[in-house]
Order: sequence, then C-alpha cells, then structure tokens
Amino acid sequence: MFRSLLFLSLSAGLVHAEAPPRPLVPIMGWSSWNHFRVKIDETIIRGQADAMAANGMKEVGYRFVNIDDGFFGGRDAKGNLLYDDGKFPSGMKDLATYIHGKGLKAGIYSDVGADTCGSQYDKDQKGFGSGLFGHEEQDLKLMLKDWGFDFIKIDWCGGRKQKLKEQESYTKLSKTIRSIRPDVVYNVCRWQYPGDWVKDVADSWRISSDINARFDSIMAIVDKCEPLWPHSGPGHFNDMDMLQVGRGMKPEEDRAHFTMWCIMDSPLLAGNDLRSMSKETLEILTNKEVIALNQDPLAYQARRLRDDGDLEFWAKPLGKIDGGDVAVVLLNRSDKSADIAFDLSAAGIDPAAGYALRDLWKHETQTGLKDATLRREVPAHGVVALRIKGKPAAANPFAK
Ligand code: GLA
Repeated sequence: MFRSLLFLSLSAGLVHAEAPPRPLVPIMGWSSWNHFRVKIDETIIRGQADAMAANGMKEVGYRFVNIDDGFFGGRDAKGNLLYDDGKFPSGMKDLATYIHGKGLKAGIYSDVGADTCGSQYDKDQKGFGSGLFGHEEQDLKLMLKDWGFDFIKIDWCGGRKQKLKEQESYTKLSKTIRSIRPDVVYNVCRWQYPGDWVKDVADSWRISSDINARFDSIMAIVDKCEPLWPHSGPGHFNDMDMLQVGRGMKPEEDRAHFTMWCIMDSPLLAGNDLRSMSKETLEILTNKEVIALNQDPLAYQARRLRDDGDLEFWAKPLGKIDGGDVAVVLLNRSDKSADIAFDLSAAGIDPAAGYALRDLWKHETQTGLKDATLRREVPAHGVVALRIKGKPAAANPFAK
C-alpha cells in the first residue's frame, strides 16, 4: 500500500491523486550484509535478484535487492564517489537496471560520516573517505538519480567517529533525499531508537546493534523493540535488522524469528544466500499467511500482553483496531516445549459470540469455537501463530 496525497486543484475544481511516493507497510526484500559482509560483487547481487524473481519470493511481496557496505571504491581527484570496479565491473547503474529489469527495486548504503563501518570493522580500505560527509548532495544524486537506487540505508560509524550531531545530520540528509527523489525509502541505521524526531525524517530506523544468527540475539532485539510500539505506524517502522532465517538456527527458531519480525512490523530483509537455500528456509520466508500480518494496512506493532518469564502471549489487531480480526502469537523462549494458555477476551475477541481460528504455520482452520481460554503446546525456542476472527470484545486491549 502506498501513501497517496490527494489535493484539490482550486482553479479546475478537480481532485487529483498524486503518484504514490513510499510504502505505508514495511518493505520486503533482501540485503547483502548478513551473509556476505563486504565480500560482494555483481555476480552475487544479480544472482539474488534472479532467485527472488524466480523462487516465489517476488510473488509474496519481496521487492528490494539491497547492496550493503562493501561496494565503495574511494573518490577521484575531483571528489566524485567511485565504486569498486573489481567487484562491480559493469557498474552500479548497470546493476540497478538489471534489478529493475526483474521487476524489483534496488537498494544502496552509505554513512553519515566520511568513513564507512567496513573501513572500521572489515578492513575495507576503500571505505575511508567514501561516506557522505562533505559530499552529501553529490553522492545522493549519483546513487539515487544517476545510478537509480530506490532505497538507501545510512549508517553511523563515520558520524560517530566525527562526533556529528545525529538528529541534525539525518534530518538534513532526509531533506536532500526527498528533494532528489521523494519515492526513495530511507533507513536510519544508528543502532538504537534515535528519538521521536526520526518519524518525520525516515521510513524506518534500526533500534539495536547488529543481529546474530543465534536465538538469544533474536530475543534481545524483540525485547528492545517491544516498548517502542507507540513509535511504529503506517509509513514509519522500527527496524529490527536484517533477517537471519536460513543462516544456521534451528527451523523452530527461524520460524519464531520470522514470526516476531512479521508481527512487530519490522522491514523484512532476508539475509541468507537466496541462490542456495533449503526448501524449508524458502517455506518460512514465503509463508503468505504470516507475511500478511506484517503487511497489514493498520500497521500496528504487536504487543506483549502477558509475560510469564520464558512464556509469552503476544497479539496484533488486523485491519481495524477493534474489528475482531487478531493475530495471536505464543512464544516459548525456554529449551523445553511448554503449554501456553490465553484468554480470548485478552486478545480482543468475545468468545461467547463464536470465532474461527487459523493456525498460520500448520495451515489448519477451526470454526465455531466458543472456548473462553485456549491452550497450545509451543515447541522449545518456538512459536504458535494464530489468526482469530470473531466478534470484538467489549474491552479493547489495543487502544493507544
Ligand atoms: C553496521 C550496520 C550493519 C552493516 C554494517 C556494514 O554494523 O549496523 O547493519 O550495515 O555496518 O559495515
């Protein structure tokens, strides 16, 4: 769904619908960092676009093929930004055109400061001086207009090094990006919730330090993001970082990770190598019924409604805040399977009126239920994800 501006042309007395600028629901796609770090090249990136277009991901909504750190080639004598032409011999414009040719969108990366994160942590010598600082307008025009990238993530390693003022810098960059191309999706990567100013500046913002392919890392990000729910809404999202699905965790853990990113309205950027994933990984990434929770137009970040230590009950209203259509997720953080129970009324459903229930991982439906409490066995490090449709309960648990 896209933000559409309606404005009145007074002279003609007509209502015009302007071209839709940016998505109102979290973006879906792939990003190079988690799997490849700075070891990227054009063959790898093209291969991801080919896979996404052919393996069913595009059909369920994945669009962005994002190049993260590692493409930089320093600057020429006049200060023009160069790409690494050893890794990208056909050039960045050619690559973006290739991605567009698959019916997909292309994303790119930079830093607020002069030096990239890769120069600091990944020995990427060409990252020194390749960040935006002092070249903001010139670089953004090159990347977004000349090369044609549709998304940009802007990191903070160089900004931190130079002790720049983050609100001021990210706001200025936002204005420049919007003036060049208002449809470009802008991600602030400052590794913590930046502050209330960010909502008016960016489309999404990282809320944590970098994710690992470990269940404790996934849970730590869930905990960081949970209290931030009031800041999330149509067109502005807490970014829980790129997905680690298919990168070494157990299938139950991958399902839990993917489900939590979906219900908490994080951007969904796969971080595995799409050319060589297992059938099971692809099935997780393309579960349409779970993705629908993420792409729901109400864009309401799920709430943790009960926390019994390792056992949790989460819910997210769909479509309308009190429409009787609710996603319920039971999360078991412990290393043993466990029973988790919840009251329908606590999820905003009046059980007495009867309700239908869909298990979104088992793909099973039950109708005509009236139980006031439901109980499910939830696997270790796993979730049960349900979609419940019924009559709204008198008390709404989701009121903001
Ligand atoms: C930071 C970001 C990561 C990634 C790397 C690239 O660590 O948080 O997501 O972009 O930089 O160097």
